[in-house]
Amino acid sequence: MSVTILVGAQWGDEGKGKIVHFLSQEADIVARYQGGANAGHTVVTGERTIVLHLLPVGALWPHVTAIIGAGVVVDPIDLMKEIDLLQKSGIDLTGRLLISHKAHLIMPYHKLLDRVAEEKSSEKIGTTGRGIGPAYVDKATRTGIRIVDLLDRDVLRAKLRRNIEEKNLLLSRIYETEELNEDQIIAEYLKFDKRIDPYVKDVSVFLSEAISEGKKILLEGAQGTLLDIDAGTYPYVTSSNPTAGGALTGLGIGPRCIDHVMGVLKAYTTRVGHGPFPTEESGEFGKRLRETGVEYGATTGRPRRCGWFDAVIARYSARVNSIDTWAVTKLDVLTGIDPLKVCVAYEDGQRTYRNFPAVPHILEACRPVYEELPGWKEDISQVRVWEELPENAREYLHFIEEMTSVPVGIVSVGPAQDMTIVRRAVA
Ligand code: GDP
Ligand code: IMO
Ligand code: MG
Repeated sequence: MSVTILVGAQWGDEGKGKIVHFLSQEADIVARYQGGANAGHTVVTGERTIVLHLLPVGALWPHVTAIIGAGVVVDPIDLMKEIDLLQKSGIDLTGRLLISHKAHLIMPYHKLLDRVAEEKSSEKIGTTGRGIGPAYVDKATRTGIRIVDLLDRDVLRAKLRRNIEEKNLLLSRIYETEELNEDQIIAEYLKFDKRIDPYVKDVSVFLSEAISEGKKILLEGAQGTLLDIDAGTYPYVTSSNPTAGGALTGLGIGPRCIDHVMGVLKAYTTRVGHGPFPTEESGEFGKRLRETGVEYGATTGRPRRCGWFDAVIARYSARVNSIDTWAVTKLDVLTGIDPLKVCVAYEDGQRTYRNFPAVPHILEACRPVYEELPGWKEDISQVRVWEELPENAREYLHFIEEMTSVPVGIVSVGPAQDMTIVRRAVA
């Protein structure tokens, strides 16, 4: 493995949590590099289902050092809740959770602004309401508060006061809603210094040393390529860079450190929130996928929009991330569907698109061009080796390989950790 970036190749919820958990068995370090508690990464082990929002999924293995990089936006309240939750289930992070001193913080005003902006907007994004966008706004306008500021009470007090005064003006004058209590927030956040201090680290230095020692490192992307603020379907995106490039800036490492990029690709397509979705099936078939695949948001519980596999998107993801291998998830959900449709291009009546245009008004006008493949009826959830997959299931995966010029390395046939077929070992 050495250093592997794992990215979501579609609109998030591809099953990154399951694949990261599976790969982390052999990893020394697992690091989150962007996003925040908008993520919902599900892990099914034995009888237990655990959803992590902020901590890297690798943290569930006691031998793994878990890292939160500078590119992540950290809500200290959510973070402490998640640490405590794991502690209660017997998973102790002492000495093996490292948080970059440069990571920005999510404050109560970010969450409030996220919510009221959505409520009042006529063009909703459908955010998770976790304050992600507003926190990255402050980072970009250079007024953000970072983990390092939590450790200096005077700095924290001054920065909070300035920010809350400004946000209260926004809240009352623009959004016509209640202001926040400045003193109460300051008192609450001044208390975090002692709790956060043991975890704070220069993550870039730690990682570069680990890389020179040959440690196995997995970089866990949250969200997905089409939610990337640059590569995605802007403005219907999140506010960070889930794509492979974000792993470098979000952790303070350079491109030559990376050995492998794995794309997690759901065998069909889903999306939560608003924005274009060319292969969406809003009728009975979409419902069938949602029910069979249990497609409900792991963070917000919202029903996920569902549709056919889109090879235009997969090809695009392969390009913008330099994907070396695919981990194809939820293949079992397609069992019994015959024929299976795969979108191979878009057309708008005037031209055909083979490259993903990533522009909402173009995508809205596009219709998918489908090819049909034969389905399979056999239950594949017990299959553990590639050769034992039904021939049509293998043909479906071969078709994905052909359309994207990227080999399939892992196939997931169920939510549990062992419901996994490894066809090619990861670098
Ligand atoms: P993530 O955000 O990419 O980590 O994905 P989520 O955890 O939000 O959503 C993926 C859902 O699919 C979770 O409920 C997983 O337990 C489940 N899942 C993952 N892989 C498979 C699979 O191969 N088959 C089935 N049926 N479920 C899966
Ligand atoms: P994981 O890591 C799916 C979506 C939201 C919304 C848009 C912006 O579990 O794959 P935000 O709160 O980030 O400002 O919302 O992005 N979104 C996700 N969709 N999976 C996620 O994470 C997501 N994180 C954000 O639904 O459309
Ligand atoms: Mg998710």
